[in-house]
Amino acid sequence: MKILIINGPNLNLLGKREPTIYGNQSFEDYLDVLKKQYSSDSIDYYQSNIEGELINAIHSADGEYEGVVLNAGAYTHTSIAIADAIGSVSVPVVEVHLSCILSRESFRHISLIAPKCKGSIMGFGMNSYRLGIESLLF
Ligand code: DQA
Repeated sequence: MKILIINGPNLNLLGKREPTIYGNQSFEDYLDVLKKQYSSDSIDYYQSNIEGELINAIHSADGEYEGVVLNAGAYTHTSIAIADAIGSVSVPVVEVHLSCILSRESFRHISLIAPKCKGSIMGFGMNSYRLGIESLLF
């Protein structure tokens, strides 16, 4: 299966950013592990801190990929535009979060993108991405 992982704002700093919440591993290191685990699938990766670029990536994924694993970072809680982008494409999008957003600050409890996604996975650290891939494979 051809899968695109998209990470949103501040997720380029995984490994350095708030390690007690997000862990010590960079996403690039984890991606190497994932690519080995899913060597018969094709996994591409895109990261941007810019809302419009994330929207463009979702649009471009349509027809190009069979599934998208999206961690929209803080845009999860604010971006009607990203929710609309997901709703505008037919490629299935799975929402993932490293942390359990429901057990954190109340402003993180709302996901504006969740209603447009195939499903949501949260709270399993980097494994959330792996579970996101699994959910697209079955
Ligand atoms: C996050 C949770 C968001 O609330 C936060 O803004 C992030 C990371 C997560 O993966 O746990 O940037 O999406």
